Order: sequence, then C-alpha cells, then structure tokens
Amino acid sequence: VRRDHHPFWAERALDELNQAWARHFLFPQFDTIGAGARFLGPNFVEIQGPNVRVADHLHVFATRQNPVSICVDPYDGGVGHVNIGSYCVLSPGVRMRSAIGIDIGDNCMLAEGTYVTDADWHDAYHRIYPGKRKPIRLRDNVWIGDGVTICKGVTIGENSIIGACSVVTKDIPDNTIAAGNPAKPVGELDGDAAFSKREHLFAGGRPYQEYKDEYDRGRLQGNTLLGWARSRLWPTRKL
Ligand SMILES: CC(C)(COP(=O)(O)OP(=O)(O)OC[C@H]1O[C@@H](n2cnc3c(N)ncnc32)[C@H](O)[C@@H]1OP(=O)(O)O)[C@@H](O)C(=O)NCCC(=O)NCCS
Repeated sequence: VRRDHHPFWAERALDELNQAWARHFLFPQFDTIGAGARFLGPNFVEIQGPNVRVADHLHVFATRQNPVSICVDPYDGGVGHVNIGSYCVLSPGVRMRSAIGIDIGDNCMLAEGTYVTDADWHDAYHRIYPGKRKPIRLRDNVWIGDGVTICKGVTIGENSIIGACSVVTKDIPDNTIAAGNPAKPVGELDGDAAFSKREHLFAGGRPYQEYKDEYDRGRLQGNTLLGWARSRLWPTRKL
C-alpha cells in the first residue's frame, strides 16, 4: 500500500495484543527469556526443542510467508542449544538449527532469510542424521546480511558484517566485512570507531515503548478509523 492508514490507537492495540499473545503462548517455549522481548507476528514464530535461551530486549519480526524458526534437535537427548544475547534482532525467515550449540552475542542483527546450522544433518556416506556437528559463535555486534547461510563450526568476530547471500564456511575475524560463496574477507572495519548499536535504543532510561510510540504517532498522524476503512474499500492515489 502507498501509505499506512491505520490510526495510531489501532497500531498500539495490535502491538499490545501481539505482546500478550507472545507472553502467553511463546515465552513458555524458551528456557529463559529476558526483559523487554518484543514480537511482531508471534504466531509465526516456531520454537522446537529445549535449551533455547535469550537475554534482554530480543526483537523478532515474523510473517506468515517468512516465519522465524528455532529448532534444537532431540538427537542425543537434545544436547544442542541456542543462546541469544541482549539487544538482538531476528528478521522474517530466520532459521536456526542446532545439534550441538549456537551462541549469539549481544547487539547482533540477523537479516531476512538467515540460516544458521551447526550440523550438516547428513554425512557424505552415512545419510542418517545429524552428520558432522560443530558449534557456531557470533560475537557481539555482528550484522548478518539478507539470505546468508552460516555453516557448522564458524565463529564470526566482533562487529563483523556478512554480505547478502553469502555462505559462511570458515571463521571470520573481528571487524571484518566478508562476502561471497564461500564467504571471504572483502573489507575491514575500524574496531576503535564509535559504533552505534541496538543497545543505544534502550539507553538513557527511556523505555523503548516511548521511542516506538513517538515514531508511530508521527508516521500515522491524522489517520482515522473512517479513513482507514475507506482506504481498504476504495483505495486511491490521492490520500
Ligand atoms: C557441503 C557440506 C556438507 C560440506 O561439509 P564438509 O565436507 O565438512 O566440508 P568443509 O566444511 O570441510 O568444507 C570443504 C570445502 O568446501 C567449502 N564449502 C563447504 N560447504 C560449502 C558451501 N555450502 N558453499 C560453498 N563452499 C562450501 C569450504 O569452504 C571448504 O573449502 P576449502 O577446501 O577451499 O577450504 C557443508 O559445508 C554444508 O553445506 N552443510 C550444510 C548442509 C545442509 O544445508 N543441511 C541441511 C539439512 S539437509
């Protein structure tokens, strides 16, 4: 649609409904979940298996077409785990599959369609699962681009960025931009630079909800229930 015609109050009510739904149906699926977790489309988030733990201020965006899915395989009694640090974002279509361990640091952002798997799930000659398994680590402030696959055994260093559609099969050092299939370093970042990070959205003692409300009020200013209904029934370029 050309413009979002929702009134602010409807946006707010839907958001509260989403968070209540998440608290009731989704939170019990995590071993632990920290403060301030927020879900858009919580009914399109799927958690399977034990040992999924997240710290504070996780933001998850899931849609019907691109659900977010985290699975710890029951192999060996479910020895895998997924640990996600504070202030991380999971975008639509993120999939994580663990047979041994996926550890994600603070302030990490995983773009749409990221696939993280710490096992091959089949072996070249022995096609019964789980194949080779090696833990995955994403250090703090890692940014994974759209459609990236991260294979078993990989550690991605602090602040590093993985370019869109890359396949990461080997460790990527700190402060590195890597891209390609298989992903190779293509650039460097200044590790001493003052990065702005997701945690800064929550700094200064101001609740995140206030930032969101301010943003939504500006974006949806002047919208009314009648205008919203009209935009649905008689869409036009003029409004
Ligand atoms: C293909 C695969 C099974 C190979 O595993 P492996 O035999 O342990 O291979 P290695 O990780 O030792 O990698 C061997 C080489 O192939 C490259 N390579 C491995 N997987 C690659 C991939 N998916 N794309 C591009 N290159 C790849 C590695 O970079 C390495 O290159 P090098 O010889 O130049 O150093 C594995 O890397 C993979 O893709 N696993 C995911 C499987 C999957 O998607 N399962 C889903 C459930 S069915």
